[in-house]
Amino acid sequence: MNELAQKHKEAQFELIDLKDVNLPFLDEPIPPAMDQYQNEHTKKWSKVIDESDGFIFITPEYNHSFPASLKNAIDFLAREWGYKPVSFVSYGAQTGGSRAIEQLRQVVAHLRMYDLSEHIVIPDYWNQLNAEQKFVPTEAQNEQAEKVITGTVFWAEQMKNARKLLAKAS
Ligand SMILES: Cc1cc2nc3c(=O)[nH]c(=O)nc-3n(C[C@H](O)[C@H](O)[C@H](O)COP(=O)(O)O)c2cc1C
Repeated sequence: MNELAQKHKEAQFELIDLKDVNLPFLDEPIPPAMDQYQNEHTKKWSKVIDESDGFIFITPEYNHSFPASLKNAIDFLAREWGYKPVSFVSYGAQTGGSRAIEQLRQVVAHLRMYDLSEHIVIPDYWNQLNAEQKFVPTEAQNEQAEKVITGTVFWAEQMKNARKLLAKAS
C-alpha cells in the first residue's frame, strides 16, 4: 500500500506504525476533547495527526473487531481527527477483517471523520506472502488500492477548505 501511495506525487504519504509511536494506555487526566494535553507523548502524537489531511487505516481483525492499540491511539486525540477523510485496509482470516472496518466506521463517525466507502479486505493474507514473507497483492487488490488512494487524496484536498470555513465561523 505504501509503495503504491508513494507513486502518487500529488500528495505526501507517511507510513505511521503504532509500534513506533509507542503510546501507553491513555493517561491524560483531562478528556482529549478539551484539547489540554499534559504529556509529551500526547503532544507529539497530536502534532502528527494535526498535520495530516487524511488517513488510510491499515488494521488486522482481532475477535471480530480492530485491535486495542488502534482504539487507544484514536482515543488519545479528538479535534485532530475531525473533518478529515479516512479509508480502510484490513487483513485477517476468512473474512479479511471486514468486521474490524465496520466497527471502525462507528468510531470515526463520532470523531466527525468522513469514511470512504472504498476499502480493501484481505482474507487469509498469509497465502499471499512470498518466500521472503513479503505480501504480494493481486491485480484486483492493486486496482482497489488505487481507488482507496485517489479517493482519500481527493477528499483530503476538498476537506481542507471545509476546515478553513469552519475555523472562520467559530
Ligand atoms: C487475539 C486474536 C484474535 C483474532 N481474531 C480474528 C478474527 O476475529 N477474525 C480474523 O479474521 N482474524 C482474527 N485473528 C487473526 C489475525 O487477524 C491475524 O493473526 C493477523 O496476522 C493479526 O495481525 P498482526 O499480526 O498485525 O497483529 C485473530 C488473531 C488474534 C491474535
